[in-house]
Amino acid sequence: MPPLRPARARGRQHALRKETTVAKTISARIDGELVAAQEGQSILEVATACHKRIPTLCYMPGLSAAGACRLCIVELEGSDRLLAACTTPIQDGMSIRTQSAKLALYRRMAVELMLVERSHVCSVCVSNGHCEFQNLLISLGITHSRYSSDGPGFAADMTHPRFILDQNRCVLCTRCVRVCAEVEGAHVWEVSSRGISSHIVCDLNESWGNARNCTGCGKCVQVCPTAALTMREVSVCPPRKDTDRVARLAVRRTESRHSRPGVSS
Ligand code: FES
Repeated sequence: MPPLRPARARGRQHALRKETTVAKTISARIDGELVAAQEGQSILEVATACHKRIPTLCYMPGLSAAGACRLCIVELEGSDRLLAACTTPIQDGMSIRTQSAKLALYRRMAVELMLVERSHVCSVCVSNGHCEFQNLLISLGITHSRYSSDGPGFAADMTHPRFILDQNRCVLCTRCVRVCAEVEGAHVWEVSSRGISSHIVCDLNESWGNARNCTGCGKCVQVCPTAALTMREVSVCPPRKDTDRVARLAVRRTESRHSRPGVSS
């Protein structure tokens, strides 16, 4: 009978086997073009690598996909269901369409509902001219919503010495929730309530200034695609947000986490 190996050695070998596992290559069609992909990649990752433009709002590289905005919907041949490209893994033999009249209609509807859920009057917004959501609206050719709303009328939280939270501008993309938990590790933000009453809260519904877990890093502010989270001292004309820098940080963190032996996603 062979001698028993110590548990630590067995663990190292297991980790080594895991690290050397090569992802299976699969093929699919995106807008008629044959593409190669790694098993486990999302439709959005593969489409983006193939220079296909799919609109996104809640997605951010390096963060877990939330599937919150539904702007990245795509059509799958042979199915009536529309799939969120950011949360759907690509599969061998899939045939996906990223642009069509039906998709444009549904994407427009999703954005229009976001517009009426909160107050997005660009002309009186501090992010006017450098707002990711505004740029998205422009790229989709959306100038107004067909639905009417009085807006939710949230009071702005100005208790933090450096930042302001204005729920009236929030699109509930949850980037702030994910970047705070997955990159900063502070877990300050969360989504409270359901449906039309959903809103973000910090430290279990504390005012931001009293949120003990907040490190004041500002990553949530940088990744917010609207003026829901802004810098306080420059609120008259805040600088452009550096979402890309935080996204690069998030990607590096995810990569280093995956390269550690024995750690899987
Ligand atoms: Fe996919 Fe928002 S980007 S659901």
